[in-house]
Amino acid sequence: MAMRLDKFLAHAGLGTRSEVKKFIRSGRVLLNGAEAKRPEEQVEEGTEVLLDGEAVTKQEYEYYMLNKPGGVISASKDEGCKTVVQLIDCPHPQDLFPVGRLDKDTEGLLLLTNDGALAHELLSPRKHVEKVYQVWVEGKVTEEDVELFAEGLDIGDEKRTRPAKLQNICYYNQEGERIMSESTCAAQENLEVALGGTSVYQTRLEVIITEGRYHQVKRMFSKVGKPVQYLRRISMGNLVLDKELALGEYRRLTEEEVSGLKNSKLALR
Ligand code: URA
Repeated sequence: MAMRLDKFLAHAGLGTRSEVKKFIRSGRVLLNGAEAKRPEEQVEEGTEVLLDGEAVTKQEYEYYMLNKPGGVISASKDEGCKTVVQLIDCPHPQDLFPVGRLDKDTEGLLLLTNDGALAHELLSPRKHVEKVYQVWVEGKVTEEDVELFAEGLDIGDEKRTRPAKLQNICYYNQEGERIMSESTCAAQENLEVALGGTSVYQTRLEVIITEGRYHQVKRMFSKVGKPVQYLRRISMGNLVLDKELALGEYRRLTEEEVSGLKNSKLALR
């Protein structure tokens, strides 16, 4: 597939789009032996591209979705512990890195790639890419908590967190039995009436955040006095954890998933 010359050079890791445009304009790039004039020129399959006389080869990006199990570190290398990269059997594992981090005990969706530009976009604090987590916390998450999360919380950082959304709230007793149906839980006005005095041991819910601060979800729930007991990420931007993947399993992203991720945008404001 043809690609713009500036994009081709940037993807090959030779610089940012604006840097490689300067290379082109200063006559350092040859396309099939002829000096390239404009960044918009197309690089077709089989076009010979030279920068300062050196051949530039097409960079093949790889994208994997992993259902991260607990007990594994979100890093490329670690002295003592198994890393998420070690779970992936791929041609160039040394180039692969996780996009952001999940804590060692957190499970769920983790993207691994060698595409630094995409990772940078997804992690950029300016992009506010939505991440959805399933959370089990000790105690009863109340309507007041929903409002506090929606306002953003002071968790001891320089700035409050951005607004976060709590949804699909469900209550459980000590025996692990659900004590309210999801639909009743959704109608928050009737909460106390519907509970009828039953004591809530645990709340299972989803939280949507648009940042990636250190231990963010755990710190937010600690702030409202409800320690996290279990945490699992189920989506990031447009990318949703494939239900077919068991813990520790992974698969390559489809082309639609990759382009969806590239268009991942903010929702909570
Ligand atoms: N928030 C946390 O507290 N931990 C994670 O692993 C991810 C988000």
